[in-house]
Amino acid sequence: MPVVPTTSIFKDDILKGKVAFVTGGGSGICKGMAEALARHGAKVTIFSRTLSKLEAAAKEMRASTGGEIFAVAGDVRDPKQVQAAVDQHMAHYGRLDILVNGAAGNFLSLTQHLSFNAFRSVIEIDLIGTFNTTRVCFPHLKASKGSIINVTATLQFNGQVFQAHACAAKAGIDAMSLVWANEWGPLGIRSNCIAPGPIANTVGMAKLSPGDAEGDSVRIPIGRMGEIRDIEHATLYLASEAGSFVTGQTLVVDGGNWLQPSMA
Ligand code: HXC
Repeated sequence: MPVVPTTSIFKDDILKGKVAFVTGGGSGICKGMAEALARHGAKVTIFSRTLSKLEAAAKEMRASTGGEIFAVAGDVRDPKQVQAAVDQHMAHYGRLDILVNGAAGNFLSLTQHLSFNAFRSVIEIDLIGTFNTTRVCFPHLKASKGSIINVTATLQFNGQVFQAHACAAKAGIDAMSLVWANEWGPLGIRSNCIAPGPIANTVGMAKLSPGDAEGDSVRIPIGRMGEIRDIEHATLYLASEAGSFVTGQTLVVDGGNWLQPSMA
Protein backbone atom coordinates (compact mmCIF):
# COMPACT_ATOMS: atom_id res chain seq x y z
CA MET A 1 0.00 0.00 0.00
CA PRO A 2 1.33 3.47 -0.79
CA VAL A 3 2.49 5.52 2.11
CA VAL A 4 0.21 8.50 2.62
CA PRO A 5 2.25 11.69 2.02
CA THR A 6 2.95 13.61 5.19
CA THR A 7 4.59 16.82 6.24
CA SER A 8 7.06 14.90 8.37
CA ILE A 9 10.58 16.27 8.35
CA PHE A 10 11.89 12.70 8.03
CA LYS A 11 12.05 10.81 4.74
CA ASP A 12 9.01 8.58 4.19
CA ASP A 13 10.93 5.31 3.93
CA ILE A 14 13.53 5.55 6.70
CA LEU A 15 12.07 2.49 8.46
CA LYS A 16 11.25 0.40 5.39
CA GLY A 17 11.72 -3.30 6.20
CA LYS A 18 11.58 -2.72 9.96
CA VAL A 19 8.96 -4.18 12.28
CA ALA A 20 7.90 -2.67 15.60
CA PHE A 21 6.03 -3.80 18.73
CA VAL A 22 4.52 -0.91 20.70
CA THR A 23 3.01 -1.44 24.14
CA GLY A 24 0.39 1.14 25.02
CA GLY A 25 0.16 1.82 21.29
CA GLY A 26 -3.64 2.06 21.20
CA SER A 27 -3.89 5.57 22.57
CA GLY A 28 -2.16 8.82 23.40
CA ILE A 29 1.55 9.39 22.99
CA CYS A 30 2.32 5.76 22.18
CA LYS A 31 -0.33 5.68 19.48
CA GLY A 32 1.45 8.67 17.95
CA MET A 33 4.75 6.82 18.19
CA ALA A 34 3.26 3.74 16.51
CA GLU A 35 1.70 5.88 13.81
CA ALA A 36 4.99 7.66 13.12
CA LEU A 37 6.81 4.33 12.78
CA ALA A 38 4.14 3.08 10.34
CA ARG A 39 4.13 6.34 8.39
CA HIS A 40 7.83 5.90 7.76
CA GLY A 41 7.64 2.34 6.48
CA ALA A 42 7.69 0.09 9.57
CA LYS A 43 5.13 -2.65 10.08
CA VAL A 44 3.69 -2.26 13.56
CA THR A 45 1.96 -4.29 16.28
CA ILE A 46 0.09 -2.31 18.92
CA PHE A 47 -0.47 -4.03 22.27
CA SER A 48 -2.60 -2.98 25.22
CA ARG A 49 -5.42 -4.23 27.41
CA THR A 50 -8.62 -3.49 25.47
CA LEU A 51 -9.05 -5.16 22.07
CA SER A 52 -11.95 -2.95 20.93
CA LYS A 53 -9.89 0.22 21.52
CA LEU A 54 -6.88 -1.33 19.80
CA GLU A 55 -8.85 -2.39 16.75
CA ALA A 56 -10.37 1.08 16.38
CA ALA A 57 -6.90 2.63 16.70
CA ALA A 58 -5.43 0.18 14.19
CA LYS A 59 -8.14 0.99 11.65
CA GLU A 60 -7.55 4.71 12.08
CA MET A 61 -3.79 4.30 11.76
CA ARG A 62 -4.04 2.16 8.63
CA ALA A 63 -6.09 4.95 7.05
CA SER A 64 -3.75 7.73 8.18
CA THR A 65 -0.48 6.03 7.23
CA GLY A 66 -1.28 3.42 4.58
CA GLY A 67 0.86 1.12 6.72
CA GLU A 68 0.40 -2.33 8.25
CA ILE A 69 -0.93 -2.32 11.82
CA PHE A 70 -1.60 -5.52 13.77
CA ALA A 71 -3.55 -5.31 17.05
CA VAL A 72 -3.03 -7.76 19.92
CA ALA A 73 -4.65 -7.43 23.35
CA GLY A 74 -3.07 -8.33 26.67
CA ASP A 75 -1.63 -7.02 29.91
CA VAL A 76 2.07 -6.19 30.24
CA ARG A 77 1.87 -7.25 33.90
CA ASP A 78 1.40 -10.89 32.93
CA PRO A 79 4.46 -12.53 31.33
CA LYS A 80 2.29 -15.27 29.79
CA GLN A 81 0.09 -12.72 28.04
CA VAL A 82 3.16 -10.84 26.83
CA GLN A 83 4.72 -14.06 25.53
CA ALA A 84 1.49 -14.98 23.72
CA ALA A 85 1.29 -11.52 22.14
CA VAL A 86 4.90 -11.52 20.99
CA ASP A 87 4.42 -15.05 19.60
CA GLN A 88 1.42 -13.76 17.63
CA HIS A 89 3.47 -10.80 16.44
CA MET A 90 6.26 -13.12 15.24
CA ALA A 91 3.78 -15.46 13.54
CA HIS A 92 2.28 -12.44 11.77
CA TYR A 93 5.42 -10.52 10.76
CA GLY A 94 8.36 -12.89 11.31
CA ARG A 95 10.71 -10.33 12.85
CA LEU A 96 11.06 -7.57 15.40
CA ASP A 97 13.39 -4.58 15.08
CA ILE A 98 11.92 -1.87 17.31
CA LEU A 99 10.39 -2.33 20.76
CA VAL A 100 8.59 0.63 22.29
CA ASN A 101 7.81 0.12 25.99
CA GLY A 102 5.04 2.65 26.46
CA ALA A 103 2.32 1.03 28.56
CA ALA A 104 1.92 3.09 31.73
CA GLY A 105 -0.51 4.08 34.44
CA ASN A 106 -0.46 7.13 36.67
CA PHE A 107 -2.44 9.38 38.99
CA LEU A 108 -1.67 12.04 41.56
CA SER A 109 -1.39 10.99 45.20
CA LEU A 110 0.64 12.01 48.20
CA THR A 111 2.67 9.06 49.49
CA GLN A 112 0.78 8.90 52.78
CA HIS A 113 -2.50 8.39 50.87
CA LEU A 114 -1.20 5.77 48.42
CA SER A 115 -2.64 2.35 49.12
CA PHE A 116 -0.22 -0.56 48.97
CA ASN A 117 -2.09 -1.84 45.95
CA ALA A 118 -2.02 1.55 44.20
CA PHE A 119 1.78 1.77 44.52
CA ARG A 120 2.17 -1.81 43.36
CA SER A 121 -0.17 -1.28 40.38
CA VAL A 122 1.97 1.48 38.88
CA ILE A 123 5.21 -0.42 39.55
CA GLU A 124 3.71 -3.50 37.92
CA ILE A 125 2.44 -1.72 34.81
CA ASP A 126 5.39 0.60 34.18
CA LEU A 127 8.48 -1.10 35.58
CA ILE A 128 7.63 -4.80 35.60
CA GLY A 129 5.67 -4.44 32.36
CA THR A 130 8.75 -2.95 30.69
CA PHE A 131 10.91 -5.79 32.03
CA ASN A 132 8.41 -8.47 30.98
CA THR A 133 8.09 -7.19 27.45
CA THR A 134 11.78 -6.62 26.93
CA ARG A 135 12.67 -10.02 28.39
CA VAL A 136 10.23 -11.75 26.03
CA CYS A 137 11.34 -9.70 22.99
CA PHE A 138 15.08 -10.11 23.62
CA PRO A 139 15.75 -13.12 21.33
CA HIS A 140 14.01 -11.39 18.44
CA LEU A 141 15.81 -8.09 19.06
CA LYS A 142 19.09 -9.99 19.22
CA ALA A 143 18.34 -11.62 15.86
CA SER A 144 17.61 -8.24 14.22
CA LYS A 145 20.17 -6.14 16.17
CA GLY A 146 17.16 -4.10 17.18
CA SER A 147 16.39 -0.99 19.14
CA ILE A 148 14.51 -0.52 22.43
CA ILE A 149 12.77 2.75 23.24
CA ASN A 150 11.42 3.07 26.78
CA VAL A 151 8.95 5.85 27.50
CA THR A 152 9.89 7.34 30.85
CA ALA A 153 9.39 10.83 32.27
CA THR A 154 11.24 13.70 33.95
CA LEU A 155 9.41 13.63 37.28
CA GLN A 156 11.90 11.15 38.77
CA PHE A 157 14.80 13.56 38.13
CA ASN A 158 13.75 15.88 40.94
CA GLY A 159 11.31 13.83 43.03
CA GLN A 160 8.03 15.34 41.86
CA VAL A 161 5.49 15.57 44.67
CA PHE A 162 2.40 13.33 44.38
CA GLN A 163 4.44 10.97 42.21
CA ALA A 164 6.34 8.52 44.46
CA HIS A 165 4.88 5.56 42.58
CA ALA A 166 5.62 6.88 39.08
CA CYS A 167 9.05 8.22 40.13
CA ALA A 168 10.03 4.80 41.47
CA ALA A 169 8.81 3.06 38.33
CA LYS A 170 10.34 5.46 35.83
CA ALA A 171 13.68 5.65 37.67
CA GLY A 172 13.77 1.87 37.57
CA ILE A 173 13.15 1.88 33.84
CA ASP A 174 15.88 4.49 33.30
CA ALA A 175 18.28 2.24 35.20
CA MET A 176 17.29 -0.94 33.34
CA SER A 177 17.74 0.88 30.06
CA LEU A 178 21.36 1.67 31.00
CA VAL A 179 21.96 -1.97 31.91
CA TRP A 180 20.51 -3.12 28.59
CA ALA A 181 22.70 -0.64 26.71
CA ASN A 182 25.73 -2.16 28.46
CA GLU A 183 24.70 -5.81 28.31
CA TRP A 184 23.29 -5.85 24.80
CA GLY A 185 25.29 -3.17 22.99
CA PRO A 186 27.86 -5.82 22.03
CA LEU A 187 24.98 -7.82 20.48
CA GLY A 188 23.98 -4.84 18.36
CA ILE A 189 20.91 -3.88 20.42
CA ARG A 190 20.49 -0.23 21.40
CA SER A 191 18.43 0.84 24.42
CA ASN A 192 17.27 4.40 25.02
CA CYS A 193 14.53 6.30 26.83
CA ILE A 194 12.32 9.14 25.69
CA ALA A 195 11.13 11.37 28.54
CA PRO A 196 8.14 13.43 27.39
CA GLY A 197 7.30 16.64 29.19
CA PRO A 198 3.81 18.20 29.24
CA ILE A 199 2.16 17.03 26.02
CA ALA A 200 -1.16 18.60 25.04
CA ASN A 201 -4.30 16.48 24.72
CA THR A 202 -2.98 13.42 26.52
CA VAL A 203 -4.29 11.35 29.42
CA GLY A 204 -1.08 12.09 31.29
CA MET A 205 -1.65 15.85 31.04
CA ALA A 206 -5.30 15.49 32.07
CA LYS A 207 -4.35 13.37 35.07
CA LEU A 208 -1.27 15.28 36.21
CA SER A 209 -2.56 18.82 35.55
CA PRO A 210 -6.34 18.42 35.86
CA GLY A 211 -8.35 21.33 34.47
CA ASP A 212 -5.33 22.77 32.70
CA ALA A 213 -5.52 21.55 29.10
CA GLU A 214 -3.65 24.64 27.91
CA GLY A 215 -0.81 24.04 30.35
CA ASP A 216 -1.08 27.49 31.96
CA SER A 217 0.35 26.18 35.23
CA VAL A 218 3.33 24.59 33.53
CA ARG A 219 6.57 26.52 33.06
CA ILE A 220 8.18 25.76 29.71
CA PRO A 221 11.18 27.84 28.58
CA ILE A 222 10.48 27.07 24.91
CA GLY A 223 7.14 28.83 25.38
CA ARG A 224 4.66 26.26 24.16
CA MET A 225 3.08 22.97 25.19
CA GLY A 226 4.51 19.81 23.72
CA GLU A 227 2.65 18.02 20.95
CA ILE A 228 2.55 14.31 20.26
CA ARG A 229 4.48 14.98 17.06
CA ASP A 230 7.42 16.17 19.19
CA ILE A 231 7.60 12.67 20.67
CA GLU A 232 7.14 11.15 17.22
CA HIS A 233 10.23 12.98 15.98
CA ALA A 234 12.32 11.73 18.90
CA THR A 235 11.06 8.21 18.21
CA LEU A 236 12.02 8.36 14.55
CA TYR A 237 15.48 9.67 15.45
CA LEU A 238 16.17 6.88 17.93
CA ALA A 239 14.55 4.08 15.90
CA SER A 240 16.18 4.93 12.59
CA GLU A 241 19.74 4.94 11.27
CA ALA A 242 19.98 8.54 12.47
CA GLY A 243 20.37 7.24 16.03
CA SER A 244 22.61 4.28 15.23
CA PHE A 245 25.47 5.45 17.54
CA VAL A 246 23.14 6.44 20.38
CA THR A 247 22.50 4.06 23.27
CA GLY A 248 21.99 4.32 27.03
CA GLN A 249 20.54 7.81 26.67
CA THR A 250 17.40 9.51 27.86
CA LEU A 251 16.15 11.99 25.30
CA VAL A 252 14.14 14.58 27.23
CA VAL A 253 11.48 16.18 25.03
CA ASP A 254 9.93 18.79 27.30
CA GLY A 255 10.83 22.28 26.02
CA GLY A 256 13.06 22.67 29.09
CA ASN A 257 10.19 22.14 31.55
CA TRP A 258 12.00 19.97 34.06
CA LEU A 259 14.77 22.56 34.45
CA GLN A 260 12.23 24.92 36.01
CA PRO A 261 11.53 25.00 39.77
CA SER A 262 8.46 23.00 40.79
CA MET A 263 5.31 25.07 41.27
CA ALA A 264 3.77 22.57 43.68
C1 HXC B 1 -5.13 7.06 44.47
C2 HXC B 1 -5.72 5.34 43.06
C3 HXC B 1 -6.12 6.27 42.05
C4 HXC B 1 -6.01 7.66 42.36
C5 HXC B 1 -6.45 4.27 41.29
N1 HXC B 1 -5.93 4.13 42.53
N2 HXC B 1 -6.56 5.56 40.96
N3 HXC B 1 -5.23 5.72 44.24
N4 HXC B 1 -5.49 8.00 43.57
N5 HXC B 1 -6.38 8.59 41.50
C6 HXC B 1 -5.72 2.89 43.24
C7 HXC B 1 -6.97 2.07 43.34
O1 HXC B 1 -7.80 2.54 44.40
C8 HXC B 1 -6.39 0.69 43.62
O2 HXC B 1 -5.97 0.56 44.96
C9 HXC B 1 -5.14 0.68 42.80
O3 HXC B 1 -4.82 2.05 42.52
C10 HXC B 1 -5.30 -0.04 41.48
O4 HXC B 1 -6.37 0.56 40.80
P1 HXC B 1 -7.25 -0.26 39.75
O5 HXC B 1 -8.11 0.71 39.06
O6 HXC B 1 -7.86 -1.42 40.42
O7 HXC B 1 -6.10 -0.87 38.81
P2 HXC B 1 -5.99 -0.90 37.28
O8 HXC B 1 -7.32 -1.12 36.63
O9 HXC B 1 -4.92 -1.85 36.96
O10 HXC B 1 -5.55 0.57 36.92
C11 HXC B 1 -4.24 0.96 37.04
C12 HXC B 1 -4.20 2.50 37.15
C13 HXC B 1 -5.11 3.14 36.11
C14 HXC B 1 -2.78 2.97 37.03
C15 HXC B 1 -4.72 2.87 38.53
O11 HXC B 1 -5.20 4.52 36.28
C16 HXC B 1 -4.66 2.85 34.71
O12 HXC B 1 -4.65 1.70 34.26
N6 HXC B 1 -4.32 3.83 33.93
C17 HXC B 1 -3.86 3.66 32.58
C18 HXC B 1 -3.92 4.93 31.85
C19 HXC B 1 -3.06 6.00 32.46
O13 HXC B 1 -3.05 6.24 33.65
N7 HXC B 1 -2.36 6.72 31.65
C20 HXC B 1 -1.60 7.82 32.11
C21 HXC B 1 -0.25 7.54 31.94
S1 HXC B 1 0.56 9.05 32.17
P3 HXC B 1 -6.90 -0.15 46.09
O14 HXC B 1 -6.04 -0.11 47.32
O15 HXC B 1 -8.13 0.69 46.22
O16 HXC B 1 -7.17 -1.54 45.60
C22 HXC B 1 2.10 8.67 32.52
C23 HXC B 1 3.02 9.81 32.33
C24 HXC B 1 3.93 10.02 33.47
O17 HXC B 1 2.43 7.60 32.86
C25 HXC B 1 4.68 11.31 33.39
C26 HXC B 1 4.17 12.33 32.47
C27 HXC B 1 4.89 13.65 32.54
